[in-house]
Amino acid sequence: MNVQGLLAADHLNRGCWSETPAVAGDMLDRDSKREAVMMDNRTNDNIGIGFGRRTFLKLMLAAGFASRWDTSKAVQSDSILKRPIPGSGEQIPVVGLGTSDEFETDNGQNLGPLREVLRRFVACGGTLVDTAPIYGNAETVIGNLVSELALTKQLFLATKIRTHGKQAGVEQLKRSTRLLKKRPLDLIQVHSLVDVDTQLDNLRRWQDAGHVRYIGITHSRVSAFEALERLMRNTKLDFVQLNYSFTEPNAEERLLPLAADRGIAVLANRPFENGAMFRRVKGKPLPEWAVEFDCKSWAQFSLKYILAHPAITCVIPATSDPDHLVDNMGAGVGTLPDARTRRLMREYVASL
Ligand SMILES: NC(=O)c1ccc[n+]([C@@H]2O[C@H](COP(=O)([O-])OP(=O)(O)OC[C@H]3O[C@@H](n4cnc5c(N)ncnc54)[C@H](OP(=O)(O)O)[C@@H]3O)[C@@H](O)[C@H]2O)c1
Repeated sequence: MNVQGLLAADHLNRGCWSETPAVAGDMLDRDSKREAVMMDNRTNDNIGIGFGRRTFLKLMLAAGFASRWDTSKAVQSDSILKRPIPGSGEQIPVVGLGTSDEFETDNGQNLGPLREVLRRFVACGGTLVDTAPIYGNAETVIGNLVSELALTKQLFLATKIRTHGKQAGVEQLKRSTRLLKKRPLDLIQVHSLVDVDTQLDNLRRWQDAGHVRYIGITHSRVSAFEALERLMRNTKLDFVQLNYSFTEPNAEERLLPLAADRGIAVLANRPFENGAMFRRVKGKPLPEWAVEFDCKSWAQFSLKYILAHPAITCVIPATSDPDHLVDNMGAGVGTLPDARTRRLMREYVASL
């Protein structure tokens, strides 16, 4: 389907979203600085007994009421927008989950919030999780949690290969498969084009042998776009992963139209510029017209902007916060902004 066809299909997509409960599962496990600040600062409406609703709910959980909060019943997982992987037609939900930094833990401790992030992710209809061997122990954490939660079959696990040399590449592929506990893995990408020819050759062999379903390449810098373009033109790829956001819109010029023409699925990384976007809009109101495309937060404003480009298959925001996860998943539900609204969005952000 060409870009126009994809755009027309986008505008037909409608859906609805229910708020998830504010607290669920084992939120009490988290000992990070986020706990005290984030949990109680946002919508912590006082319920008139000396502490806020969230604090009250946390105490309820501590008293053994956790099972009453079932997020899977509170969100409509089937309302999330899906798009096809062009090469196969397989549909994937448009909001995925990044894991750089966020799923790296000290000695596998404090897994409670991450377990809850994964649980809510699936409850909200998400499937694609993106990780990499160089994200600390993230592959181990994901493999263990996904297996513990019995989510292996439901999730689309994407990892990367980043090393030099054929044999080292094969060893890394074996290690990722073992740590993520899934065979075949769903997607493996050459990370930031490191030793790209050798590792693409390794990936093709793995794909032919049935060890991985899809293969691709990634980068997160505009300076690498020429190299990405060359590979997208001259190589058979299932996926390309690149940086795309308000402030890094450059992929729109050549790479996104090229991906649509060549039938390559696109994962958009760094959707919040690794968090910088939130610092820029802090304390600034969303424009009133954001409700017209079902947008309730700055995270959704940013993600919906990205998803409104029809060549984007899936955006992969990273979070270790279960509430942020639900916020992000909301971007995949409801209307997306049209071209005129996207222009207004850019102008509004530039005016802040
Ligand atoms: N070369 C490559 O292949 C490459 C390069 C860069 C990134 N990536 C992939 O793309 C993923 C995403 O990019 P990124 O890690 O740079 O980060 P990002 O998704 O642009 O931003 C993550 C930051 O935003 C915060 N956040 C997330 N949701 C939020 C919400 N709803 N409200 C407020 N804050 C929110 C997170 O903190 P909280 O934890 O507090 O939510 C975190 O600080 C990576 O994790 C990785 O999987 C790949």
